[in-house]
Parts: sequence; structure tokens; C-alpha cells
Amino acid sequence: MASLGINLDHVATVRQARRTVEPDPVQLAVLAELGGADGITVHLREDRRHIQDRDVELLRHTLRSRLNLEMAATEAMVTTALRIRPHQVTLVPEQREEVTTEGGLDVARQLPVLRQAVERLQGEDIPVSLFVDPEADQLQACRVTGARWVELHTGAYANAASPAAELARLQAGTRLARALGLRVNAGHGLTYQNVEPVAAIAAMEELNIGHTIVARALAVGLTAAVRQMKELIRNPRPTPLLTRN
Ligand code: PXP
Repeated sequence: MASLGINLDHVATVRQARRTVEPDPVQLAVLAELGGADGITVHLREDRRHIQDRDVELLRHTLRSRLNLEMAATEAMVTTALRIRPHQVTLVPEQREEVTTEGGLDVARQLPVLRQAVERLQGEDIPVSLFVDPEADQLQACRVTGARWVELHTGAYANAASPAAELARLQAGTRLARALGLRVNAGHGLTYQNVEPVAAIAAMEELNIGHTIVARALAVGLTAAVRQMKELIRNPRPTPLLTRN
């Protein structure tokens, strides 16, 4: 069964809308763990639009589960990660103007920078995952960096009008990554409606899900929202109605 990492960025988005102290992602992380979260993911963006350094530091000390820090492969972020020591780092591309992370890393093009970041982090026992589209050339380049994990970008699957072909790409990408010796996570745009076929992919280790869970939490509370997602992942139907939700 794939494990579930909860992305709490949008809890911080609500807080930063008023630049106040509530809601606090550190407090909400406790509720996510009560609902069965296997880990907490936060993206510390260069512009600090949602998650703040303070959040990452406190989460590292208070979580009972694991902290996955999403970040760009910059010198400043690598230094921050080496100081805070999350359980895992996921390297993502970052553009200031984007609403959310739009595409996967172009690993082949950024090989020297990524390889250096991976070496520095993994050299200090912080495993690194690279967020990439499920494409053969990207996965092959991931292996060259030495990263232990990849996170397959599920955005194209989530946005497809008829997602069967995108699901097949994710399945093939997972198989290729495993054959290359990489461990496989996935995420971005997954919802209660579309998660099951991805959760059913053999060898899928963790799904990172944020927006849909925080949205549902407004209605049912975060613990229940996490529990409902956990239930779908625990017992996924491999081919539910593959229509856009
Ligand atoms: N994985 C990565 C690498 C991401 O950048 C994000 C979005 O911050 C997620 C997973 C979670 O995406 P969503 O909020 O759409 O579930």
C-alpha cells in the first residue's frame, strides 16, 4: 500500500492571506497525523508566499511522522535544508510567477546543479527525491544524479479529459524508475476522485497530496479528510470511472 504524505502549504496560504498566526500548519500537522498521515510535506518557496522558515523548523521538532521538504535546488535552500535536516528533500522547479509547481524538473538540462545538490544532501544522510514528468529521458537523468527517489508529476493525468493514456505513462514511468533502481513517489493534482488508479500502481511508495485534502478539511475537519483519503489509498480500485472530475 502506498503511504500518504500530506502537503500543508495551503494551510499556510490562508494564514499568510492576513499575515497573522492562524491557521498554524504546525498545529494542523498533529491533526493530519491523527488521521493517518505517514508524513508531512511543505514547500519552502523562495518568495515565502505560504510556508515560512519557522514552520519547517517547528515541524522538524514536533512531527511524529516524517518531514518532506520541497524546495528549489539553490545554494540558499540547500544550506537551509542542511541546517533543519528534514527526513527527505524533494527538489522541484520553481518560478516566481507560477500559481503552483507547473512542470517537472528538466533534470537532463540541469544535471550539474542537481547532481551537486543531491551529493551535498545525501552526503549528510538526507535522501533526495526529484520531481519529474514520467518520461524516460528524465528518469534516466535522475539516475545519473544519484538521487534515491523520484516523484512522478501527476498533473497531466489529473488535468486530462480522458486520463487513460496519462495513467499508462505513470505506470510505465514507475516500471522504468524501478528498473533504474529508483524508488517512486507521485503527486500533484490528485483528488478523492482520481487518486485510486495511481494508488493501485505496483511499487508506488508514497502519494503527496495537498489541495484537495485541505479543501475537504474545511467541511469535515482535517483528521476526517486525511482518513477518507487514506481509505481510498488502502483499498484502491485500479480502474474507476476515468473521467475528469
Ligand atoms: N508534489 C509536489 C512536488 C508539489 O509541488 C505539490 C504541490 O505543492 C504536490 C505534490 C501536491 O499537489 P496538490 O496540492 O495538487 O495535491
